[in-house]
Amino acid sequence: LDCSAEPSVHAGYGASPAYLINTNLMGTVNCLEHARRHGGAFAFISTSRVYPIAPLRALPLAPAGGRLVLPAGAAGPGWSGAGISEDFPLAGPRSLYGATKLASEMLVEEYRATYGLRTLTYRCGVLAGPWQMGKVDQGFMVLWAARHLYGGGLGYMGFGGHGHQVRDVLHVEDLYDLLALQLADLDRWNGSLFNVGGGVANSISLRELTALCEKATGRAVAMGSTPETRDADIPYYVTDNARVTAATGWSPRRDVPGLVEEICRWLAENRARLEPILA
Ligand SMILES: NC(=O)c1ccc[n+]([C@@H]2O[C@H](COP(=O)([O-])OP(=O)(O)OC[C@H]3O[C@@H](n4cnc5c(N)ncnc54)[C@H](O)[C@@H]3O)[C@@H](O)[C@H]2O)c1
Repeated sequence: LDCSAEPSVHAGYGASPAYLINTNLMGTVNCLEHARRHGGAFAFISTSRVYPIAPLRALPLAPAGGRLVLPAGAAGPGWSGAGISEDFPLAGPRSLYGATKLASEMLVEEYRATYGLRTLTYRCGVLAGPWQMGKVDQGFMVLWAARHLYGGGLGYMGFGGHGHQVRDVLHVEDLYDLLALQLADLDRWNGSLFNVGGGVANSISLRELTALCEKATGRAVAMGSTPETRDADIPYYVTDNARVTAATGWSPRRDVPGLVEEICRWLAENRARLEPILA
């Protein structure tokens, strides 16, 4: 299970990409080589960020009720009100992070074809859950909850600084359920590649997340605002799970309000250990 990475989409900007490429791409090559030499199957945790930035920014989004929304009934190549599907065109820059993950995906496929390695690939939207060490660049669900509970500042960054940007969030245990289901019949699922995420029902804007965290912790945080958008940021990503659900029957079972409560409980119960890291 290759889930080691430098997982920040902002990594490498304004600096050498060597660390990122060595960690993400060469890391996967090292794992693939281990599997080739010693046997075993290979599950690769890829990312929604393999999809290019410009077409995601070009989606016809407008603010409504504290979040960006797509017009009802609107659709285009690989996108619709149900989210982004595996058919979303891949041409164009996608961030150094996304490029390392896409290159890794391609090598996973080549090892399958060349060496008969059995493989599973998941293009995940945002993953979250207790024990994720949230940082500003990665793991915003835990970061948001921790700053509400322990104190410390937060800010809405990019796209005007309103906190209207939207992501779908998948509980890591839901991802585990899918992995377990596929590992139980690996010959059947060998070579599969799916978009996997929380989907529309589990999508949330930062502004909406703030409201959920205030409710769960009973505390409010001073919220900053930075209108400028960072190079690799996108305003909207929601996974269209149609393909994985049709093929396997899997769909997310855990919702975002429950996830926020679970994270807040974990933060409260482990405060002495976690506050020095997350506050
Ligand atoms: N968190 C998300 O929203 C999200 C979304 C899509 C995909 N992913 C993918 O999920 C995986 C896990 O990411 P995460 O969000 O849990 O981040 P994370 O930083 O919590 O986990 C990454 C782990 O990789 C380890 N690691 C880094 N370099 C390594 C190396 N050279 N050798 C061995 N281990 C190394 C780190 O110690 C860390 O434990 C990554 O592959 C990431 O690309 C994450």
